[in-house]
Amino acid sequence: MKVIQKDLIIRNLRYVVRSAVEIDAKSLSEARLQIDGETENLDKEKGEAFLRESDFIQIIKEDTENPNNLFLVAEVNKNIVGFSRCEGNKLKRSSHKVEFGVCVLKEYWGNGIGENLLRESVHWADSNGINKITLNVLETNDKAIKLYKKYGFEVEGILEQDKKLSDGNYYNTVIMGRFLNRHRG
Ligand SMILES: CC(C)(COP(=O)(O)OP(=O)(O)OC[C@H]1O[C@@H](n2cnc3c(N)ncnc32)[C@H](O)[C@@H]1OP(=O)(O)O)[C@@H](O)C(=O)NCCC(=O)NCCS
Repeated sequence: MKVIQKDLIIRNLRYVVRSAVEIDAKSLSEARLQIDGETENLDKEKGEAFLRESDFIQIIKEDTENPNNLFLVAEVNKNIVGFSRCEGNKLKRSSHKVEFGVCVLKEYWGNGIGENLLRESVHWADSNGINKITLNVLETNDKAIKLYKKYGFEVEGILEQDKKLSDGNYYNTVIMGRFLNRHRG
């Protein structure tokens, strides 16, 4: 699905949050590769499970056509500096939920870009009656966990020793969920 572009200014940084379009594919491939090399908070090391321009063209096409998917980019001076995805599930029993992921180039951290990508995604999900947003986050990623809690995500569980990082230690993954309507029983 597509949403309307938002123009934002935070700490004198002017940026745009909008839906991804086909011509973003090359920049997205490059940005993803760079970000994977800048943080251990994501699943991959730099270059692992690399997505080429053509892969992104396909993802953007599917996300645009699928009413349960949303692919957003954050752009500074026409350069993509961050992106997020809500990925829906085609299986009927899971069609009420989407999985959220977000990343921002390190140089641009702390400018509200991650927060705005999340805010737009949550707003889109709520407006479209999507009942549950799920995500996985490394237990040490305090900034992201704090941000998710601010937008109503709750801790649902812990995957123990889920990742082994470059320091040789194991780390837990926190599973979080946000509900539009809490149904019990
Ligand atoms: C996590 C991430 C998306 C956050 O994006 P960002 O643009 O840097 O974050 P924002 O500027 O929107 O800040 C979000 C919150 O974190 C706070 N924050 C920013 N920098 C911080 C820091 N160094 N330490 C602690 N809190 C910080 C902000 O103050 C804000 O909280 P507030 O609303 O209470 O003020 C980004 O750091 C990133 O891409 N990290 C690597 C990939 C990643 O971890 N993705 C999430 C995987 S689940």
